[in-house]
Amino acid sequence: MANRQPAEDWPFEISPLSPLMAAAVTGFDAATPIDDFARDSILEALGRFKVLVLRNQDLAPAAQAAFTRRFGELEPHVNREFRGNAVPEVHPVNNLDEDGKPARGRNIGNYSWHTDKSYMPRPSLATMLYAVTLPPAGGDTEFADMQAAYAALPERRKTELADIRIVHSWERSRQKNGSRLATAQEILDAPPVTHPLIRTHPMTGLKGLYIGNHTSHVEGWPVDKGEALLQELEDFATQDRFVYRHRWQSGDMVIWDNCSLLHRAVDNYDIEAHIRILNRTVVRGSVPI
Ligand SMILES: [Fe+2]
Repeated sequence: MANRQPAEDWPFEISPLSPLMAAAVTGFDAATPIDDFARDSILEALGRFKVLVLRNQDLAPAAQAAFTRRFGELEPHVNREFRGNAVPEVHPVNNLDEDGKPARGRNIGNYSWHTDKSYMPRPSLATMLYAVTLPPAGGDTEFADMQAAYAALPERRKTELADIRIVHSWERSRQKNGSRLATAQEILDAPPVTHPLIRTHPMTGLKGLYIGNHTSHVEGWPVDKGEALLQELEDFATQDRFVYRHRWQSGDMVIWDNCSLLHRAVDNYDIEAHIRILNRTVVRGSVPI
C-alpha cells in the first residue's frame, strides 16, 4: 500500500521510509490533545503504512497515555511487575536490572518475533513506543509484514491454511523465549485463546498471517506437527523481503499495527553497557476474524 499517494488533507506531513511499509510523520504534536479528524487521519495512515514514526515528540507518560486513549481502550500488562508504575498503562521497555544498571535478561521476549497481546481474546490493535533513552547506536526494532507474506503464498497453500485455528498462550510464550516463567496469577489473567491463522484486518479487510512467539500450537493437531507449521510460516514470513528495520532517533514515537505485523527488538547494541528505555502503550483491539 506504500506506493499509493498519501492523502493530501491529513493534518501532518508523511514520507514513506521503505517501499514495503513505514512512514515518517512530521508536523504533528502527540502531546497536544487531538481532534477526531487528526485521530482518523492517523488511523488511515496506519492502515496504509502499518508503521508510523512520529518524529520530534516530547512525551511525558501521562501525555502518551492520553494520546493513546484517543484510539481506544488502553491495555494493562499481564506482567504484574509493571502495575505499580505512576501511569500504570505505560509499560517501561528497558534493559535495566534492579539496581538501574544496564543488563541482559529483562524483556528478553521482545527479541522473538511476536504480535503484541495475541494471547488475549481481544489482542492489541496498535502499540505506541516512545524513545526515552537510546543507546549510541543500534537497539533497532524490526517489523515483518504478514499481509505481504500471505499474499506471496501460492494459492493452493492459502486454501490449505484457510480454516486453521491457532492456540496462543502467555504461559507457552514465556517458556519458549526463556523469560521468567508465567506466574499462576498471570496464567489466570491470560488463559490460552484461539485465533484464526489467517486474519482479516479489522480496518482494511486485507488478509494476513497471524502468528509469532505467543502461539502455542494448532488447534486439533498433534503438537509437533502444529509447531512445525508455525515455524515454517514464521521462517517464510520474516524473510528480508518482508521486513522493515527501524533505526530509532531521539524524539521518535513509533505506532504500529499489530493486526498485520510481527515485530521484534534487535540485539545489535552492547546491552550490558548502554541504557535503552522506551515507554509503551497498547490499544486494545477487536476479536480476530
Ligand atoms: Fe512487542
